[in-house]
Amino acid sequence: MDKKNQPDGINRRRFLQIGSAFAGSAIFLPISGNYVFGAISGNRVKNSIPDVKLNNGLLMPRLGFGTNTLTGDIGERSVYDAISVGYRLIDTATVYGNEESVGAGIKKSGIKREELFVTSKLWVDDSGYENSKKAFQTSLNKLGLEYLDLYLYHRPRGDVKGSWKAMEELYREGKIKAIGVSNFDPGQLSELMAYAKIKPAINQIEAHVFYQEHILYDDLKKRDVQMEAWSPFAAGRNGIFSNETLAAIARKYNKSIAQVVLRWHFQRGIVAIPRSSQKTHMIENLNIFDFELPNSDMQTIASLDLNTTQFPEWT
Ligand SMILES: NC(=O)c1ccc[n+]([C@@H]2O[C@H](COP(=O)([O-])OP(=O)(O)OC[C@H]3O[C@@H](n4cnc5c(N)ncnc54)[C@H](OP(=O)(O)O)[C@@H]3O)[C@@H](O)[C@H]2O)c1
Repeated sequence: MDKKNQPDGINRRRFLQIGSAFAGSAIFLPISGNYVFGAISGNRVKNSIPDVKLNNGLLMPRLGFGTNTLTGDIGERSVYDAISVGYRLIDTATVYGNEESVGAGIKKSGIKREELFVTSKLWVDDSGYENSKKAFQTSLNKLGLEYLDLYLYHRPRGDVKGSWKAMEELYREGKIKAIGVSNFDPGQLSELMAYAKIKPAINQIEAHVFYQEHILYDDLKKRDVQMEAWSPFAAGRNGIFSNETLAAIARKYNKSIAQVVLRWHFQRGIVAIPRSSQKTHMIENLNIFDFELPNSDMQTIASLDLNTTQFPEWT
């Protein structure tokens, strides 16, 4: 593990600290017309999204905001809304064609750069050492940022070795705080680790109640690579938002299916990045830290696994 570039993100002040006299658990406070998700601690309101420490020491929020398909003005407005309600991890990618919109939303939010955790991804068309360096700089320019918190190799195709070398150099230069991969299976991870000087911090993969990825889950734990779930709601497929098993659990806790699903990801120790274009859903999806699913409900949800992708068109 490369220890040279210990990221300064470890001391990042991610909490929104707002003086408050209220007492209670998780609430939403209107702040200048926006809503800040908060949990009360003493007389302060804190953003209650917990962090996970990655294998290089960097802190990453355990719940973030996905932006696939949120392009143009909708992309900008959604990212602005997401930050205003309390999200700090924003996930984009070159191939989403929305890095400019995401950057504009970030800029408009007025939030300090160090409060955010921004991920982008290198597309396979840009694989190889030289191309990857250029693609990274293009992403930074589009986002209007000086550095990325996380940069992922998007799919295990192309010249992964050349790209990884470029990503390692950018990491050492401090332009990326953590590097990782996406959609890699255990064999592809082993291949990468055979030559990697810096171990991936993250593997972002499809994971949801219908595709729980138990083998990869155990494999990543053993390797100390954090698992991150893309499409944590299966993008709404297979009737997830009207699933009767999930609805019955949701009723017990006076929560929605979306909240139960995100809580299940959270309790599995997986970082989830739900997408929404609606502010009410964004807020709802943050409100998962005031209840807990007992083992029995975790097991019931485990039984929903179909052990197959819901996105066959992408494989
Ligand atoms: N690495 C990769 O290869 C890869 C691949 C796919 C995705 N990703 C990342 O993962 C992110 C999330 O995945 P995704 O965008 O495919 O889908 P997703 O987050 O699983 O689901 C998004 C869908 O859920 C709906 N939704 C959100 N909150 C809801 C709520 N509280 N109640 C009811 N419906 C709700 C949204 O509709 P509304 O807009 O109406 O709320 C939207 O239709 C992406 O945006 C992207 O950042 C990565």
